[in-house]
Amino acid sequence: MLAPLMPAAPTPDDDAPNPTGPDDALPFNPRMHQGGKLAFRSRIQDGDDEPGDRLVLGGRNPPPLRELAPTGFTDVEIEIGSGKGAFVLASTEARPDTFLLGIEAAQGYAAMAATRLYASGRKNGLLLVDNGKLFLQDRVDDGELAAVHVYFPDPWPKRRHAGRRFFTDDVVPVLARAIRDEGYLYFASDNAAYAGQVARVMGAAVDFERDEDEEVRVRAAGPGHAFSPTNFERKYIEEGRVIRRWAFRRLPR
Ligand SMILES: C[S@@+](CC[C@H](N)C(=O)[O-])C[C@H]1O[C@@H](n2cnc3c(N)ncnc32)[C@H](O)[C@@H]1O
Repeated sequence: MLAPLMPAAPTPDDDAPNPTGPDDALPFNPRMHQGGKLAFRSRIQDGDDEPGDRLVLGGRNPPPLRELAPTGFTDVEIEIGSGKGAFVLASTEARPDTFLLGIEAAQGYAAMAATRLYASGRKNGLLLVDNGKLFLQDRVDDGELAAVHVYFPDPWPKRRHAGRRFFTDDVVPVLARAIRDEGYLYFASDNAAYAGQVARVMGAAVDFERDEDEEVRVRAAGPGHAFSPTNFERKYIEEGRVIRRWAFRRLPR
């Protein structure tokens, strides 16, 4: 059973950089306030959105992955922070045997992505509104995932917001448990400081190893395999920014 849609209600405010966006009209959800409010980008879920059955609002008690991903797919993967859904759209088209769950903290963006996916008619993807890191921790079984994709995660540059980043020191055991042997974590970012943090955190992880051959292989395979396309990637390519794209392989247990 999928979680029911939640009614709109006022919510307490916090120190988010953009505290007056539409997501503030949603009920307070402690899952979205791990180290501070996660979603601060604003985009109204408007009347034109038709997400159909491709959007799940996790609320305070999201369903586990095994209830969201239908059986029969070769691989089940998660994208954390799927934004407007460019990668979910491309991945579900390029890889029909893979089920991709896009987890997005900002409901307006998840609704936009789900609307596009619903319009495509494809059933090998779904959008979930939740805290992706927490979902990996408490809604995914051991080794259930073939891959986790994290593209252009919010860098949260202020020191007081550092706890909101995805790649904090505590993320390695979370990833190592959820990703199966020989599975992958794929990461892309334009932010040199954040990439440095990822290099430090993942470089120190005994359960993972950077795999440059895989980075070349998935890029050659084309859009929707890993890394690309994403909306932020498109913007940063136009701006001429340097983008780092790394694949980390889960070493056998
Ligand atoms: C900079 S945007 C990148 C979006 C997309 N990956 C892209 O490249 O276009 C980061 C997104 O991650 C979402 N986000 C941040 N922390 C999250 C979390 N813990 N779980 C799920 N989504 C998160 C934000 O709401 C935002 O939409």
